[in-house]
Amino acid sequence: MFVYEKKLQYPVRIQNPNPKLAAIIISQYGGPDGELGASLRYLSQRFSMPYPELKGLLTDIGTEELGHLEMIGTIVHQLTRNLTEEQVKQAGFDAYFVDHTTGVYPTAASGFPWSAASMQVKGDLIADLTEDLAAEQKARATYDNILRLSDDPDVNDVIRFLRAREIVHFQRFGDTNHNKLSKFYHRAGVGASCPGALLVDYSR
Ligand SMILES: [Fe+2]
Repeated sequence: MFVYEKKLQYPVRIQNPNPKLAAIIISQYGGPDGELGASLRYLSQRFSMPYPELKGLLTDIGTEELGHLEMIGTIVHQLTRNLTEEQVKQAGFDAYFVDHTTGVYPTAASGFPWSAASMQVKGDLIADLTEDLAAEQKARATYDNILRLSDDPDVNDVIRFLRAREIVHFQRFGDTNHNKLSKFYHRAGVGASCPGALLVDYSR
């Protein structure tokens, strides 16, 4: 079960509305490398993880990603509250506005709604943890792109925090792979067409 704490992991206090920026940042809410996919990926992969410490790691990081989803939703909300119709039109926010007004909807910046096809749960510890490493780097790259496009210091402060957390997650997944799984990589014949990963003796 989850216990909700009524505060953000890192504060979001944006002074100025900016719907154009919101239409970009929404990608980290419902885009292919966003926080919704991250949280569901990890919180779903954990069920078939054979080791308690790996299950715990996925639960821990997946739960934090839910907190990041909440922060991204808050950024989008604060960037779009109290907009005038003129601002909506001038900022090119009309395509989003016509479908969602200023509600926060899980979609990519390109307009493609969030899809579970953007993530995977393979049920194989090596495949899943390797995907997780890539997922963290793709999220980090998206935050880098947002920082390239945004000149709002209130937004960028939060985005830098989120970017740093993706790097921490990558390192935590990486440590797991290196320390605990190297023998399984070897035995599973990673890189070869080998079902060994499924046949690994998880009891040792
Ligand atoms: Fe992450």
